[in-house]
Amino acid sequence: MKKIGILFGQENTFPQAFVDRVNEKAGGEFTAEFVSIDQVEQNVPTDYAVIIDRISQDVPFYRAYLKNAALTGTAVINNPFWWSADEKFFNNALAVQLGVPVPRTLLLPSKERPDDTSERSFRNLRMMDWDMAFEKIGFPAFMKPHSGGGWKSVYKLHNPEEFFRAYAETGQLVMLLQEAIEFDDYFRCYCIGGKEVLIMPYEPRNEFHQRYATQMKTTGPAGEKLLATIKDYVLRLNKGLGYDFNTVEFAVRDGIPIAIDFGNPAPDADVNSVGQQNFEWVVEAAANLAIEKARAYQPGRDNLTWGTFVQRSAQNGFQDSIPAGKTVAAKKPTAAKAAAPKAAAAPKKAAAPKAAAPKAKKAQE
Ligand SMILES: Nc1ncnc2c1ncn2[C@@H]1O[C@H](COP(=O)(O)OP(=O)(O)O)[C@@H](O)[C@H]1O
Ligand SMILES: [Mg+2]
Repeated sequence: MKKIGILFGQENTFPQAFVDRVNEKAGGEFTAEFVSIDQVEQNVPTDYAVIIDRISQDVPFYRAYLKNAALTGTAVINNPFWWSADEKFFNNALAVQLGVPVPRTLLLPSKERPDDTSERSFRNLRMMDWDMAFEKIGFPAFMKPHSGGGWKSVYKLHNPEEFFRAYAETGQLVMLLQEAIEFDDYFRCYCIGGKEVLIMPYEPRNEFHQRYATQMKTTGPAGEKLLATIKDYVLRLNKGLGYDFNTVEFAVRDGIPIAIDFGNPAPDADVNSVGQQNFEWVVEAAANLAIEKARAYQPGRDNLTWGTFVQRSAQNGFQDSIPAGKTVAAKKPTAAKAAAPKAAAAPKKAAAPKAAAPKAKKAQE
């Protein structure tokens, strides 16, 4: 029997509650447990039909383990490939295409050059026109890493002097400069399985443990309309991105919910911060999702969720790709096809491949 597993880091309350809930609900059809990993070998499947990943953003070894698990059939929640590609700037751009309002945002070159690069590495990059950037975004503004989390290196800035002082601290981080939304209401929303949505009033200006202890300020029909719009935006974003388990934050200005942070594939689900009621909801929804995915699981297939953006893009791929599960004898690449072998043959008896693929040569720097 395939199992449902959870992979986690320092958190203490959600993993056990999730495991207990699945075991209660699955009635012997599946068992849930903490994922147990020993030797990780290429293309060898795990014992898990489903793994909920709560930690691979911090543990590259786990991310690689999960990609291998996904390739061999495990439904990994969230999709480790998309999560690896995910960053705030792209997500914002995609939100614009999906018709979800986001703050005006620019991508900034890092203050310091990446290691092992020199001035010559940047001959394509023109001098930044800061005046134009400030004019476009305005003040107050937020500056934050394009690929970050946990409120690290997030600055609220009121003028160019503050901006340059903060920018000088950011080292090699690639930052976003973003219009600050002065909000009347703020929400954090769980979205599970691309369909279940819990909208939680949230006050980011409170101390960490008090952030969920707040009420929605918009009331009456305006409040109802706001909640319906938020739900619609949450679903659009998560279908676009392809996340099974995520939170989306909105700042509401003049009745319009503006998406602030919506790539949180291992969102806080600790009972001590989200509170008992929200915790109960997320445990139940996550258990239902895991059971649903385990029932839908098809051995050896890709059981991941992919966002609409990737699905559309994949249709433009090579048409003659090798069917899943088949291996091909390595052919000598012809000049025309030398660029990208589509699948490496995996010999059953692990003979060392005769010619290792040449290491991708690092471009000059
Ligand atoms: N453009 C913005 N307008 C208003 N508040 C913002 C904006 N950007 C970030 N914030 C505030 O800063 C917090 C942290 O920023 P966020 O984008 O969520 O970064 P992280 O991924 O590190 O959590 C948000 O929860 C929000 O309260
Ligand atoms: Mg955030």
